[in-house]
Amino acid sequence: MTSTRHLIGLLLGTEEDWPAAFEEIARRLGPVDYPVDGPDGGSHAFDIERITIEPFTLRYHPRYQLVIDRLAYWYYVPREWLKKVAMMDDVYLLNSPFTFQSMEKHAAYCAMMRLGLKVPETVLVPYKNPVDNARYAYTAARYNQPFDLDAIARQIGYPLFMKPYDGGAWRGVSRINNVTELHAAYDASGEMLMHLQKAVDYDVFARSLSIGAETMVMKFQPDQPMHLRYAVEHDFLSPAAGAEVVSIGRLVNAFFKWEFNSCETLVKGADVYPIDYANACPDVALTSLHYYFPWAIKTLVKWSVFALVTGRKAKLDLETDRYFAIAAEPGMSYQEKLAGYRALADEYFETERYHDFCAARLPHLDQIVLDWVTGPDFDQFLVRTVQSVYPAHEHDKFIAHLRGLLHLWVRDESARLAAA
Ligand SMILES: Nc1ncnc2c1ncn2[C@@H]1O[C@H](COP(=O)(O)OP(=O)(O)O)[C@@H](O)[C@H]1O
Ligand SMILES: [Mg+2]
Repeated sequence: MTSTRHLIGLLLGTEEDWPAAFEEIARRLGPVDYPVDGPDGGSHAFDIERITIEPFTLRYHPRYQLVIDRLAYWYYVPREWLKKVAMMDDVYLLNSPFTFQSMEKHAAYCAMMRLGLKVPETVLVPYKNPVDNARYAYTAARYNQPFDLDAIARQIGYPLFMKPYDGGAWRGVSRINNVTELHAAYDASGEMLMHLQKAVDYDVFARSLSIGAETMVMKFQPDQPMHLRYAVEHDFLSPAAGAEVVSIGRLVNAFFKWEFNSCETLVKGADVYPIDYANACPDVALTSLHYYFPWAIKTLVKWSVFALVTGRKAKLDLETDRYFAIAAEPGMSYQEKLAGYRALADEYFETERYHDFCAARLPHLDQIVLDWVTGPDFDQFLVRTVQSVYPAHEHDKFIAHLRGLLHLWVRDESARLAAA
């Protein structure tokens, strides 16, 4: 039997919690046997390393086989390094660096509209204050037509949202109820390029976190402080709406080659409206995800192991034609198209093969994670995380809060495993 060692690189921002959890779960998992004929058959072991930022020659060969990145969406040196290792070295990245721009939701809106999804009416308006560039003044004088902001807003209808075409973390987002607010927001937009988008008067906000072929749909409460935004509630959507939320997320992810992304949908009655679908490398901090944290980190480990052990290749080319062909099919209903997209997306993610792989090769991982979360190491990890995130006077409150939610997860997960 051959044995293979894989090196996983973590490209990190300020976070310490999920990388430590990822390393711990992978360590407790240990090597994975994959008894198949061919180059992937044998025993597979995993090393994990945190990547540092260095100058690099574009022809060098990186040591990593897979990289999980939470940094490149705002820091350009690692972003360009990711492009190099994806283009030249076949390093497996969870998000294609050529399409992930977590700050650019415009392209995702365009793709989803072409595919017939219910993106609310959206208009891009030119800058309030054009970029400071001598050439721009000339271009603007010649080509920037005066436009009637009031008429655009009237046509969309109030209330509406004004938000940057490349937004993230609510920067520059405002809800607008009338023409006075419209002008105030546009004047304040300055050098940000803005969309105006019809507001959806929704019943439920569903935020889904996708990691590879798995998706967790969570009830999101955007008005709450960070630690209360994800509600622990399991059947808050009808089965049909829940399935649609999963399908839309998987579709967008397969379309752009994103495997670690979070998506936002507003659900009103039976209708699902996607509003924010480009949050590649999303926040998976213990303090934000709480109850869902063990699922997220376990799934990151499972997907990484699956990709490495089975020799999955990252794809850089988008197969947009296959999706657009379904979109253009005359006589196909919305639900039929969605089913067609879902089949393409599941093919891209090898969903069935992934689940078979987990059942056959990682059947003990659920118990490993449950034991870890139940034990004293995890509690110390929880306490350390709270101490590093919150000011001293809030430690007791947040330690109790997180312990409560994680105990709830332990109870639910124990019941689930006992029933299985
Ligand atoms: N069309 C909309 N209808 C209703 N609420 C919206 C709409 N667009 C944005 N919002 C609200 O504003 C928040 C931020 O907008 P979003 O598009 O998610 O931008 P960001 O990328 O900054 O998260 C959303 O979480 C939601 O609460
Ligand atoms: Mg958002």
